[in-house]
Amino acid sequence: MNGDLVLVSDVAAAFTSAVLDHFATSKGPGVLALSGGTTAQRCYERLASCTDSGFWSELDVVWGDERCVPLDDADSNFALAVSAFGNLLESARSIHPMRCGDGVATYSATLKSLGGIGVVHLGLGPDGHTASLFPGSDALNAIGDVAFNSDPLGHNKHPRMTLTYPAIAKADLVIITVEGTSKRAALRRVIDGDVTAPAARVSGTRVIWLVDRLALGSPLPR
Ligand code: 6PG
Repeated sequence: MNGDLVLVSDVAAAFTSAVLDHFATSKGPGVLALSGGTTAQRCYERLASCTDSGFWSELDVVWGDERCVPLDDADSNFALAVSAFGNLLESARSIHPMRCGDGVATYSATLKSLGGIGVVHLGLGPDGHTASLFPGSDALNAIGDVAFNSDPLGHNKHPRMTLTYPAIAKADLVIITVEGTSKRAALRRVIDGDVTAPAARVSGTRVIWLVDRLALGSPLPR
């Protein structure tokens, strides 16, 4: 697997520490790309509890993927972030929701104008997807930084906008958080290098997998 697998007892706490440590020392872009899902929600609530407006005033906030729904739709990743971070998000230096209607070139240009991404947070789906890079989907082969995509197997609803592998790989740090027994099979596929699991193809300058014991299952691979 690409990156370092770190077994942690509290994924949200480890995520928070990794984000704070990175931005406290990095000379790279102060840009944080947010994910979606329930693991991300727990991570963001924890990060919110450990940060103040001063931290956010130094950050530009972007998204790693988004469902093509109104930003106030309960299914949107933007709404998830607003719910988890509350007023802290308003303190961010800038926030850049993904809007499907604006097209991928616009978002790609936004990322370029920000100077790239410092930290991109990703989750892992039970089917091995990450961001909105689904098994057998077109965006797996995209060469641009942002792509429209959908799940050809229909397990993940809504058409999507997503960062692509090249965009993720350009980030200074990729943090992938994995919790719970429902992710055990997908994580095992990633550990075994099964590239039919899209998350197994994530690469970058520095990739950290923060996983709990329930997701990892058996002892660490030798
Ligand atoms: C999305 C997410 C997606 C998510 C994983 C894990 O928009 O759905 O970006 O990639 O991170 O599906 O989600 P859970 O933590 O809810 O299992």
